Amino acid sequence: MVCNFYHITDVHYYSKRNFKCDWRTFPQPNTQICILKSEEAFKKALETVEADKDTNTVIITGDLTNHGESYSHEEVRDLLQDFTNRGGNPFVYTDNHDYPYFPIHGYDENGGILPMEHLPEEEVKKMYYPFGRGKAFDTYDDGTTYIAEILPGLYHIAMGYDAEERPSLHHPYFSDGLMEWVRNHVEKAKEKGAVVICSTHRPVVPPSPAYAVVGKGHSFIDGEKRIKELADMGVRLFFSGHSHIQCMKEIVSEKGNRIYSVQTSSLAAFPPKFRKITIDTEKGMAEIRTTNVELPDLGMSFTEYSKKGFLGIIEKIPYNMEHDVEAFANTQGGISLPKDLIMKHPKTVMFLGRKLNGLTYGKVAKFSKKYHGLKKSDYADKTDKKFVNLILALISNLYCGNAPYSPDTVEYKITMGSVRKIEKILSVLRVDSKKLLGGYTLSDFIEPLLYNSGPDDDNATVRID
Ligand SMILES: [Fe+2]
Ligand SMILES: [Fe+2]
Repeated sequence: MVCNFYHITDVHYYSKRNFKCDWRTFPQPNTQICILKSEEAFKKALETVEADKDTNTVIITGDLTNHGESYSHEEVRDLLQDFTNRGGNPFVYTDNHDYPYFPIHGYDENGGILPMEHLPEEEVKKMYYPFGRGKAFDTYDDGTTYIAEILPGLYHIAMGYDAEERPSLHHPYFSDGLMEWVRNHVEKAKEKGAVVICSTHRPVVPPSPAYAVVGKGHSFIDGEKRIKELADMGVRLFFSGHSHIQCMKEIVSEKGNRIYSVQTSSLAAFPPKFRKITIDTEKGMAEIRTTNVELPDLGMSFTEYSKKGFLGIIEKIPYNMEHDVEAFANTQGGISLPKDLIMKHPKTVMFLGRKLNGLTYGKVAKFSKKYHGLKKSDYADKTDKKFVNLILALISNLYCGNAPYSPDTVEYKITMGSVRKIEKILSVLRVDSKKLLGGYTLSDFIEPLLYNSGPDDDNATVRID
């Protein structure tokens, strides 16, 4: 059997009807989501699926709307209906940004904030029933978890999760009952010779240690244990979104079974991507290919446009740390740092900001000279370059995957040399950095931001037998 389908996630659709002013004259907001282009991005992705002769099937793994605005939900539903009417075969579900968990607003005639009312969660779920759960042949518990035959011989289990914290849905977990239900279905599918893929909105394994630490509440409790259980059942591909990070991870259970965690970035954020997956059971292979969303009339690629919006926040971080701690706290340091913690230590933040802005490659190399093995001539062309720009690139690398600074580069050697020196200082001071970084060393934390040592985050061909 050869079958093809697409994976889209985190559409974060924002209806133009939310603007009472002319949205065309509205400046590109410095938020992670390109709300002004989310409609175009979604239409473009659906058009791509429609134009593909290999398939009309797509799984969409949650955060369909920006923050759950009624207009946004209505338009996503209508687009899915139109797509279905033209022969499209979508399997979607909703998640945290689709429910009444975030304050929502539009823009008034003058571009000011216009507060709006949410739709109740149950009503939202009903809107998407025909495009997912309504096509399922079995559901678990309240029906958030469902199994559907999305293509002949290919079953998709959309896994709902419980969460320790509500309504934020932080500290998610899969219950024992759910895992048992999944096991039964995977066994039955195997008897029929069918392939099972699974998905859930949130990443079951963190895309990187940095995400695990900074986005602590977002990570699954016992995620690694659960995904290994799925690997032992015979599931080889697991899809998710939520983190807006483009990432592929190979996880091997203690019994030697492999599973690939395929995490796709948001369709409407940096980097705006979606994937096509080809499963070939005879060859025992799956091919995963990424498409960048491209939109006309931006004067630049949509990737560049989305990066501008996203890095608009990030690029201000070093300046704000030194000169405007409140602005730094309001953007949570760009990486979900607790606002209270930042405001409790304004002088420390300002001091760190000053130091950060004054750093050059030369200064950093001098600091770690016994640890990086480089001669001055190796980085002569970079000596006066601001090091903070590399730090910004590392933050951007966290999201776009395939970080480019392999171990032979000056960037890698100077950064990891400095990390090793800091680790040495911390050990002399008897500071347990692992305790501060949730069980990771500083090297574990920084290295994946420089260099991807796992499967290619965009495109990979993997064994699924
Ligand atoms: Fe999202
Ligand atoms: Fe989410």
